[in-house]
Amino acid sequence: MGSTHEITLVVNGVRRRCVTAARTSLADLLREVLGLTGTHLGCEHGVCGCCTVLLDGAPVRSCIILAAQADGHDITTIEGVDGGDGRLDPVQEAFCATHALQCGYCTPGMVLATRVLLDASPDPTRAEIDEALGGNICRCTGYVQIREAVHRAAELRSAGDDGREALTHG
Ligand code: FES
Ligand code: FES
Repeated sequence: MGSTHEITLVVNGVRRRCVTAARTSLADLLREVLGLTGTHLGCEHGVCGCCTVLLDGAPVRSCIILAAQADGHDITTIEGVDGGDGRLDPVQEAFCATHALQCGYCTPGMVLATRVLLDASPDPTRAEIDEALGGNICRCTGYVQIREAVHRAAELRSAGDDGREALTHG
C-alpha cells in the first residue's frame, strides 16, 4: 500500500476523520468508507456527472478528486439534502412528480446540480438549465422531463411548504 493521509472533512453536516490512501478518490471514500452509496459511479473519468457531490457548496465530480484533496472541506451528498426532517427535498419531489427519472442512476447528480442552479437562479431559463445540467448525462429520459422537474422545483421552492403539501396531497 502506498502513502496514507489522515483527513478530516464535514460530510452532510457531520465531522468525519478518516485515514485514506493517497490514490483514493473522494467518490470511493464516500461510498466504500462512509457507506454513502447514493454517490454513483459511471465513467470514472469526469465525464458523466453521476458522481456529483457539493464541495463547499459547489458541484464537483467526486471520481476525479482525491479524498485527500477534500481534507478540511464541507461535502454534501444526496443523502444530506433532506434537511434531516425525513421529507424529500423539493427538488427530489419535483423529479418524482414529473417522472424525471427512470433507472435513477443519474438522479443524485442531477438533484444536487439543480439545487445549486436554483440557489443562484430561483426561476431559471431553459438556457440556464441546460448550462447547469449540461455536464450530467442521462441515458434514459431524453432530458425533457428533467427540464420540467427543474421548473417544478423552482415553483415548489417559491411556494414553500404550501407547494409541497399541494404536491403531496393534490
Ligand atoms: S463517474 Fe464521475 S464523472 Fe462519471
Ligand atoms: S434516469 Fe437513467 S440515466 Fe438518468
